[in-house]
Amino acid sequence: MHDLIKQAAEDLVAAKYVVALTGAGISTESGIPPFRGKGGLWERFDPMEIAHIDAFMKDPAKVWNILVKEMKEIVDQAQPNDGHNGLVKLEKMNKLQTVITQNIDGLHQAAGNTDVIEFHGNFAWQRCMDCSKKYETREVDVSEIPPRCDCGGILRPNAVLFGEMIPSGALWRSRQVATDCDLMLVVGTSAVVQPAALMPVIAKQTGAKVVEINPERTPLTGEISDYLIKGKAGDVMNRIIEEMGKK
Ligand code: OAD
Repeated sequence: MHDLIKQAAEDLVAAKYVVALTGAGISTESGIPPFRGKGGLWERFDPMEIAHIDAFMKDPAKVWNILVKEMKEIVDQAQPNDGHNGLVKLEKMNKLQTVITQNIDGLHQAAGNTDVIEFHGNFAWQRCMDCSKKYETREVDVSEIPPRCDCGGILRPNAVLFGEMIPSGALWRSRQVATDCDLMLVVGTSAVVQPAALMPVIAKQTGAKVVEINPERTPLTGEISDYLIKGKAGDVMNRIIEEMGKK
């Protein structure tokens, strides 16, 4: 692994335009469970039953009770970890321009990254399904489920549910930065959910290096990514940054 850490440090030093694509794995060290794999949310629940827009429309109270309340408790408490902080250090070194994240937890912004594209929306806000008024999630009263807007409409997370479109601005900008970058760091994503998983493919096809940080192989490994640094995001980021300091 040491050789790959050195390689990543060299590649980052040489790169002119770096973009990171992150997924749930970067937030596991902050106590937020991933979706797939051991301890993942989709091991306990069928996403089509509780995270699909049709499920929400059919029974919003069920989705709130099973998914949203629990997410609110976890996300309200979560703090950025060394993985998020490492991406902030890279930005301060002028070695990271943009983070595209599939996460809805707001931890990249909390850590201090300034250009974060929220590919799947965010959990910081709820919006009224009738009038679109927004409420900060941490201030939403969950003593009555589903919570309601002043107008009486039902509140829903401002995040993308299965069966919904990616916000067009996020999709458009992500494709743009994936095309423009010369290095993409792909951190903590299983790279199976489209169209997010296409971003490294676009980066590769337009000439960028693609570097994965993940304890496990993904469909990108050996196909799209130049190499995989097998490990946890926090530890790997710390080691890369330490190595860059020696250059
Ligand atoms: P997944 O849960 O599918 O994948 C998490 C990835 O993180 C796996 O590849 C793990 O091996 C890796 N991982 C676990 N711990 C890690 C650590 N400490 N450091 C680095 N990597 C680690 O999460 P996503 O790829 O983000 O969509 O899932 C994509 C989308 O599927 C989510 O945004 C969500 C979900 O359904 C929606 O809700 C629309």
